[in-house]
Amino acid sequence: MPRIAVISDIHGNMAALEAVLEDLADQRPDEVLVGGDLVGRGPEGSAVVRRIVELGWPTVRGNHEDYLLAFRRREVPDEWLRDPEWSASRWMAAELGADDVGFIDSLPFTFTSRLAPELRLVHGTPNSNREGIGPWSSERRVAEHLASIAEPLLVCAHTHRPLHRELPDGTVVNVGSVGLPFNGDRRAQYAIFEPRRAREGAPVEGWSVELRQVGYDLEATLRIYERSGFLERGGITARLLRIELEKAAPVLVPFMTWAEARGVAPAPEALDRFFEDFEPGQPLAPFFDRLRNG
Ligand SMILES: [Fe+2]
Ligand SMILES: [Fe+2]
Repeated sequence: MPRIAVISDIHGNMAALEAVLEDLADQRPDEVLVGGDLVGRGPEGSAVVRRIVELGWPTVRGNHEDYLLAFRRREVPDEWLRDPEWSASRWMAAELGADDVGFIDSLPFTFTSRLAPELRLVHGTPNSNREGIGPWSSERRVAEHLASIAEPLLVCAHTHRPLHRELPDGTVVNVGSVGLPFNGDRRAQYAIFEPRRAREGAPVEGWSVELRQVGYDLEATLRIYERSGFLERGGITARLLRIELEKAAPVLVPFMTWAEARGVAPAPEALDRFFEDFEPGQPLAPFFDRLRNG
């Protein structure tokens, strides 16, 4: 039976990608698929794109591919091209070479595995690369996503939180993130799938799913944050991304949402006050509710 690895959400983190490549060399899957978000939220987008191009692994398009392409083409609101809170995105878009841009622009939204066509890969959901399937997704919503595709196994990413759900009509697996996990585990994460069949050629009866975690040199990535100029020139956003990487938890969106709700400029001076209100890793829904209700 073929073994299929799916890696995703590398986010410009080469040390994490290299560690996963070493693990894959040991695991020797028959096929490797890439779930998108090669770029964005990290300083080495170009290096990641070049490595994936070199490996020739089929890749779907994540929302961060769309996002940096839009920056590159200046198809974003004027203030994004000007205001300090967007300087990290401008830096990351500028860091990509012309070939990288051509490659990410060519990526498809979805495809199925060549060796196991029962496996469908998307970045977020079958309808959107900006919506994710996470621990908070209701069973009804997940069943609707499964019902919208012909295949019994839906593989996704985007939320940076691994997940494996068995439903009456199929299986949904979120493979997590190689370069920027949000589940409190700083290790690079990905998944390996193997279809179970009674015999060769028989219908797939189920899947064995292995969610893997691979330790890597996080300090090496943090040094790149400094050495590349990302931390210095990426402003408040680069600083928040660095904290996300260290805490393996979302911080950027909570900070921006907090700053807006409190009427505070999203600047470094606001960070101390923010961290009095917010602990990385705390459940987000009650935090956002609290902000909404004043
Ligand atoms: Fe992502
Ligand atoms: Fe994403």
